[in-house]
Amino acid sequence: MAAADRRLIAGTWKMNGLAGDGLALASELARRAEGRARDLACDLLVCPPATLVREVVVALGGSAIAVGGQDCHAESTGAHTGDVSAEMLADAGCASVIVGHSERRADHGEGDALVRAKAAAAHRAGLVAIVCVGESAAERQAGATLDVVARQLEGSLPAGANAGATVVAYEPVWAIGSGRTPGTDEIAEVHGHILARLGAGFDPGIRVLYGGSVNAKNAAEILAVEGVGGALVGGASLTADDFWAIAESCR
Ligand code: PGA
Repeated sequence: MAAADRRLIAGTWKMNGLAGDGLALASELARRAEGRARDLACDLLVCPPATLVREVVVALGGSAIAVGGQDCHAESTGAHTGDVSAEMLADAGCASVIVGHSERRADHGEGDALVRAKAAAAHRAGLVAIVCVGESAAERQAGATLDVVARQLEGSLPAGANAGATVVAYEPVWAIGSGRTPGTDEIAEVHGHILARLGAGFDPGIRVLYGGSVNAKNAAEILAVEGVGGALVGGASLTADDFWAIAESCR
């Protein structure tokens, strides 16, 4: 990934993709990016399931679309059956890794301290850590959004996190996969709050992505919001047309 002043469109395939469809999608993205990705006003990243990382790296080789992991363990090696380390992802050709996604926090009970250890592991391995934060529906209803996000941010970012090695993704839990998004004024409020916190304790240049039901139709409006440094895209990253339309929404 390039300079922090460019926006980043990151697609996470989550637990989707066998060799057939996953590699067909990667090849189609490589074809579209050929000679053109550098003209886009954003950096591009896809995060396939771990089983496909190496083959997607090969399929996208030289295309200016980077590849990332969806999670990593905090240790670099050891007796951790089923886990993947940041070093393994780097070795397979990844440039970055998502940590602290709300599905990891919910499905695997991951808390801020573990997320911070994973982000530090990413940095140790030379990867960009994409650190996810976001409130639940109940927390938003209780008016606690800004406090929750600030607490997660401070608990999940390693000391010294900087723009070269760190991206934050603001993803309201209730917006993920639901087809619902906050209003643009609400997105602007939370991004402004996150950027202020980053400026006070970390690095004001850290990109803050919005994630949660971003699609080809709403991307331009969301990406135009003050403080939005890109998007983390789930469902809509599974088809080349939609992912590419979102990338082209960066103006
Ligand atoms: P979604 O997922 O785009 O399918 O809502 C976003 C995410 O989980 O990062």
